[in-house]
Formats: sequence, C-alpha cells, structure tokens
Amino acid sequence: MSDFRFRPEMLEGVAEHLTEGLKQFEDWFILDAEDLKKITDHFVKELEKGLTKEGGNIPMNVTWVSRFPNGHETGRFLTLDMGGTNLRVCDVRLSDRRRDFEQTQRKFLLPKEVKSGTGEELWDFVAERLEAFLEEHPTGAEDGTNLPLAFTFSFPVDQQNIRSGVLQHWTKKFDVSGVQGQDVVPQLEAALARKNIPVDVVALINDTTGTLIASHYRDPQVKVGSIFSTGTNAAYMEECKSIPKLAGWGLPDDAKVIINTEYGAFDCDRKILPFTPFDHQIDSESLRPGTQLYEKMVSGLYIGEMLRIIMVKLHEDGILFQGQDITRLRKANALDATFLSIAEMDITEELEDMREEFQEELSLSPIVDEMKICRYLIGLIATRAARLYACGVAAICKKNNLRKCHVGVDGSVINKYSGFKCRVSQGLRDIFDWPVREVDLIALSASEDGSGVGAALAAALAMEDSAQIVTKII
Ligand code: BGC
Repeated sequence: MSDFRFRPEMLEGVAEHLTEGLKQFEDWFILDAEDLKKITDHFVKELEKGLTKEGGNIPMNVTWVSRFPNGHETGRFLTLDMGGTNLRVCDVRLSDRRRDFEQTQRKFLLPKEVKSGTGEELWDFVAERLEAFLEEHPTGAEDGTNLPLAFTFSFPVDQQNIRSGVLQHWTKKFDVSGVQGQDVVPQLEAALARKNIPVDVVALINDTTGTLIASHYRDPQVKVGSIFSTGTNAAYMEECKSIPKLAGWGLPDDAKVIINTEYGAFDCDRKILPFTPFDHQIDSESLRPGTQLYEKMVSGLYIGEMLRIIMVKLHEDGILFQGQDITRLRKANALDATFLSIAEMDITEELEDMREEFQEELSLSPIVDEMKICRYLIGLIATRAARLYACGVAAICKKNNLRKCHVGVDGSVINKYSGFKCRVSQGLRDIFDWPVREVDLIALSASEDGSGVGAALAAALAMEDSAQIVTKII
C-alpha cells in the first residue's frame, strides 16, 4: 500500500494542545475520490473549450508538430532549454541506427536578476552561454555551415508555425520586460547574431512537447507528455478535425497536431478547485494574481511556499516555534519542494535530517513534536498536489478516450520526490476505479531527455517538413 493517504497517526504522541487546531487542515486539504472525479470532469470540459475559437481558461496551444518521429531520424542538432530554474544546452547526434543517439550537455543556473531584467539581457545571457558551450564543445560546423537549433521555451506561446511563437504571458516567477506579446524567436536570433553564433533556429517547442516526443520515441505507448517541476503542464497529440479553432486552415481530414495544453491555467474562473485561504494568499502575493491558479496549487514552485505560510500562521497562533526568531521563515519563497521531500523521507525517530534542514534553511531549532506537525502538514500539501495533478492527466486521457497508455513524465518533483509518483498513481486509480488487482492502466513513466533528444527530434521533423514544402513548391 502506498503512503498516498495521509496518516493521522503521524501525530501520535504529540501534545494535544498543539494538535487541536489541525483538524481544519484535513478538511481543507484532503480530497477524496469523488472530489477528484468532479474536478476531472470539469477539466475535460475546459480542455474541450480551449480547442474552440472562443477558447476558455486553458489555452490549448497548437504546436505545429504534426507527427511522432519514426525512429530513423538522423543529424546533429543543438538544443537550448530555458526552463524555470536552469538553461540547458545540448549537442545531440541522432544516428541512423534506429532510436540511437548521443548527447553532450551543460546546465547553467538562470540567475534571479536575469529572470526579472530586460529581454535583451535575457537573450544575451542565453547567447553567451551557448557561445561558452560551443567553445568547450566545438561542433565542427565552423566551416560556414550553420547547425540547426531547437529552442525549448517552457512558457505559453501562440504559434502560427513551428519557427515562431508569441509569448502569451510569463509564468513561474519570470518577469522579463519587452518579451510578452512578442515573437521570442527573432529576439533570440538577434542576440545570436550579435555574437556571430553559427546556428539556425528551426523549431520552437514547449518542454511538454519535447517530453512527449522523446518518450514516444522510446516507447510508442506514451500518449501524453507532462512536466511536474517548478511549473506543471502536459501535451498530447490531437486530431485536427477535433480542433474547431483550426477550421479555417484547410488541413487534411486525417491531420494531427500536438497540443500544448498549458493546463496550469485551469480553473482561473474559480469554478471547481478547492481553494483554501492559503491558496488565495499565494495567488494574491504572486507576480500575476488570477493566472495559473491550478499550477499555483500543484507545482514545485508553490508547495514550499504553501508550507511556509502555514508555518507562519501556526507560529502566530501560538503553536509552532514559540520564542524563536522566525525572520527567515517570514521571507517569501524561503522554502522549495526539496525541503518537503527531505522531511518526508526522514524516518529517524528524532527526525535528524529534518532538524538539519530547519537549521540550514530557516535558522530554526524545532522540537520533535513541532517537526512531526510540519511533516504531517507536508503530507497533506504534497498529497493534495499529487492528487490534483492526477486530475489533469486523467482529464486528457478521458477526453481522448485513452483507457490504457503510458504518460511520459519529467521534472524534479515527479521524478525525485520519493513517493510522489505513487500518490499520483493512486489518484488516477481513484478517478478511474480500476479493480484492486488490476495494474495501472494509465502508467507514469519517467523521462529525462525531452529537452535534448526530444527537441532535436522536433527539429529533425520540422526540417523534413519544410524540405517537403519546398519540394512541393518547386
Ligand atoms: C509553463 C509551461 C511549462 C510548465 C512546465 C508552466 O509554467 O506555462 O509552458 O510547460 O510550466 O515547465
């Protein structure tokens, strides 16, 4: 039995006067199977709405990737992945041995000032890092031929083709000026040109698209690609005839396209999600109140913040850390998902690992009872996040009648937070009522090569497609 249910016995032995007020948290955070089913059904409707001309909360962005790789793609590609925390640069070589590739990669931390500076500073930072990578790993393309580059830009963009994309709005605490409402590709190209970097941007993709392509390349049973990290989102392949907003495009009847759902924006009209006062606080104190409300309840960037504001409240209620200096705890975003993960993994009687984290991250010295309370709250917060995340995956599968498939998942929370995947799987089981002895019909499978090989494959497909268009015109 997985530990998905949060266990009240975790509070056994804790002084009663400390636990009295905690019942309310269970009412706020525990979601039973019926709650999940209702949320999923509403989610399905919202996914459908996003495909219409009028649209809804969920953007359902068309990516213009219209097929999966067949495993025989070849070539050498550079890939750039600008996620929530890092910039990753890869040199990927796809070989003609089916499903074989080699890659060299380097990660650079995206500094806070770059995430909140100007567009020019951001693109220059990206170009400089790519230049540094190319100095360390010469590609042999110094003979005047440009290498194709795929750019994974993990934010909502409106695309008219695979080589361009207008940023709809920043998410994940990015606040770079001069980029919203603009096509990001010419901005990146201008910075690359300033440094004379010999590359051609041939594809702009989302991280979920890269994950879907890379996971499907390895395992054709993968029908959904999803990220659960700083942000959360998913992509899947849709029939163009089921996308009313593409009606005027004259696409063939059997055409398909990957949809980047951008479902972090689910329920921004607050119809179904079980918002608590803490969710409202996180939203109202965020850079863009009223946006990405589902993401703010679920993803790694916010679950640490959720724990922090609850701990501050319990301090003010006279329950936690009395007589201690909580200055660091009062600092917004002082905690991230790693803190929660370490605390949940700590099974020592005296909670030594957790104590160390409290010291290091918050300069606090809690007693064991206080740590037990915090661990109990973490169980509630993380279980709710995992179960709500299950609703998004379930909704995509339900809408597309996918009763049995694999879901490629990438991201630090889903792949590194011990026990998280089990909680999501249990959420899916509750939603779909699979018989007890039945294996998971919708199974999560870890994927890590979306931004390398997934992006390179997207570039290979884009280049094949544009070569075909040129041949047709000639
Ligand atoms: C972005 C998505 C991205 C997700 C995961 C969200 O904040 O809007 O484009 O896929 O984070 O990185």
